[in-house]
Amino acid sequence: QIEDVWIRKVFTGRGDITVEVELTAEDPAAGGYVVTRAAAPAGASRGAHEVLYFPEGGVDAALAAFEKLVAPEVVGLDVTETYAVDGKLEEVDGTPRFERIGGAVAIATSFAAAEAGAASLGVPLFTFLGGAYARRLPLPLGNVIGGGKHSRGLGPDIQEFLVIPLNPPDAFTAVYVNAEVHKRALKYILKVDSSFTGGKNDEGAWTPRISSITALKILKEAAAEVEKELGVEVGLGVDVAASSLWNGGRYVYKNEGVERGPREQMEFISKLVEEFDLIYVEDPFHEEDFQSFAELTDKFRDRLIVGDDLFVTNPDRIKRGGEMKAATGVIIKPDQIGTLMRAHQAVETAKRFGMRAVVSHRSGDTEYRTLAHIAVGFGADVIKTGIMGGERTAKLNELIRIGDYLGKWAAIARIR
Ligand code: PGA
Ligand code: ZN
Repeated sequence: QIEDVWIRKVFTGRGDITVEVELTAEDPAAGGYVVTRAAAPAGASRGAHEVLYFPEGGVDAALAAFEKLVAPEVVGLDVTETYAVDGKLEEVDGTPRFERIGGAVAIATSFAAAEAGAASLGVPLFTFLGGAYARRLPLPLGNVIGGGKHSRGLGPDIQEFLVIPLNPPDAFTAVYVNAEVHKRALKYILKVDSSFTGGKNDEGAWTPRISSITALKILKEAAAEVEKELGVEVGLGVDVAASSLWNGGRYVYKNEGVERGPREQMEFISKLVEEFDLIYVEDPFHEEDFQSFAELTDKFRDRLIVGDDLFVTNPDRIKRGGEMKAATGVIIKPDQIGTLMRAHQAVETAKRFGMRAVVSHRSGDTEYRTLAHIAVGFGADVIKTGIMGGERTAKLNELIRIGDYLGKWAAIARIR
């Protein structure tokens, strides 16, 4: 039973203000109390259909809404029934986009309650979320070279150039592969731009002033080197974050000096998939274009064609995409939809349509490790966390710990 709740302002890894919720719950088994905390991550390339991050009035309005609407209602609820806490958040807010309390307050409360539920039962969070047989580790998808909004518009126009180990024997090796590709990419970047000073973006990806094609060539070389040395297959991917490029009629690649209409975008992306054997393509079209997503998915059914801003972790949008066969994968960012209960429903909906779940961080994330547990608990095939920086390694190191805890019973996801 929740005894007391607090909220405070803290910072994301990008230095932006977010909220952290702390709660105390009675722990009957231990005859004492458990105290848990969680913070809300924050995105930069947010989808138009996400829940509202802060209510009108910003973070202080969020704090006030928490004190007035949330705190009095959640005290007394049973933390082992977190759906009741999540349901209460929806109830006290009363709007579909969390316009009164804000998604940041909602998700931080939801996370903290789940942590308390697990702690009060004395089980790891992934077991609490996924049940006794949750033991499969997702493959880590890491960001090596970055552009778009995450690099303040100063790098390539495509937002993320990604790698994913395809057949790692364990979580440690999986993370090691990504870190090595990231490290070695620098050498290849310096070959094409000797003035590069080693700058990294919000997610720790290198941000050279190079074109998207050059970035992919570098990624390919660095990945091949690591593949050969470590004996693990490495897949390549991109997050185009195309809504950030879309001006209502065309995709504007500002730094690369190109504009592409919807047809040209389709051809460009298809060419990238073929030329670089991309296994992962996120948001290749803007967030309303289900049709183009479906066309690309039809062409490349054996790849992960993934919707982020397209679906915004919203079960209704995922259902629409599933019916249209618009994707083979779905980004799950719990903060996009406001509660773990809704994020779980999003995962279930994706699976019902044969789409894989990619549980994901935000570009402005925090030191919390929660996401690793959510990915294992919800049975995700992929976890997207970046590679470098404390808020990224917090999740990756936790994945390694979970693997260690499960020992020989750990299984590892395969995406092909
Ligand atoms: P974010 O986007 O900056 O909104 O977190 C990351 C992404 O597009 O995957
Ligand atoms: Zn994205």
